Amino acid sequence: MSERSSDMTVGDEICTIKRTQAEDWDAAAQGLEGFVDDLESGLSSATRRLVELASPRPGQRVLDLGTGYGEPALSVAPLLRPGGHVTGIDLSDEMIELARSRAGGEPDVEFRVGDFDTLDLPDASADAVLARFALMFAPEPVHTFTEIRRVLAPGGVLAATVWASPQLNGFATGTLAIARALGATPPPGAPGPFSMADLDTLIGQLREAGFADVSSEELVVPFRIAGLDRYVQITLAVTAPRLLAAARQRLGSDAAVADLISAAARPHLDGDGTVVLPSTAFCVRAVAPAQR
Ligand SMILES: C[S@@+](CC[C@H](N)C(=O)[O-])C[C@H]1O[C@@H](n2cnc3c(N)ncnc32)[C@H](O)[C@@H]1O
Repeated sequence: MSERSSDMTVGDEICTIKRTQAEDWDAAAQGLEGFVDDLESGLSSATRRLVELASPRPGQRVLDLGTGYGEPALSVAPLLRPGGHVTGIDLSDEMIELARSRAGGEPDVEFRVGDFDTLDLPDASADAVLARFALMFAPEPVHTFTEIRRVLAPGGVLAATVWASPQLNGFATGTLAIARALGATPPPGAPGPFSMADLDTLIGQLREAGFADVSSEELVVPFRIAGLDRYVQITLAVTAPRLLAAARQRLGSDAAVADLISAAARPHLDGDGTVVLPSTAFCVRAVAPAQR
């Protein structure tokens, strides 16, 4: 976690982080609805790999932590039929609303507001846990992984993707340009998209939480966005409102912020006007051991 002011307890700091996370993702959900296909141009490759790593089967109970607009839960649900069940959990009410609106009302797919640090679920109640680009927002990763291990049945699999370093993340080009313009660098260890970019640390944290058979691999997520304007709109939707407000103040207008994002992405245009933004991720797989 980041350094805190002397009158703030760890508990206070975690509450603040969670509240900010929920507010930021609530705001993102409102802007994201029209851009799901653009995002899935890249992110569906992560879903495919998570499914291969967790091998969900008919009849199994699967959790999707930090499900956002419902992925990978919605992609996995058909693989669990008949007899299985998937529960998508997210801190943000608005994301859960969006996920529910994308679901077809099937009884075996459920979306709930909740915190992956305090899962309201019995021990050993899940056969697999998936998390696509969500665990990096955990303030205390070992605590989060221990909670995930608790709810996994012996032999159950955690399969998760996290982002590698910002330098290897084309998709974040616009947000990183804003952060650079503001001189804003997150404090080391602070929860955020790149907090798990050190793979050795991540693997150590999973082992410390009691997972066995921890393995990892690199994955390139091939985002392709139809034009600079669309990329600007998506970036504005996913960038934290506080960062955007600060950028607007520093640069003088919304148009100047949009121009900054557009200029940063221009070198990634291909011949037909598509913005091509390959982004490197890590996929991790970890198994809950039989003995606790
Ligand atoms: C980058 S989004 C990923 C969403 C989705 N899995 C996807 O790949 O499209 C991260 C999500 O994690 C959620 N999140 C952050 N902290 C969380 C927590 N403590 N418990 C549950 N969800 C959390 C956010 O609300 C957000 O929806």
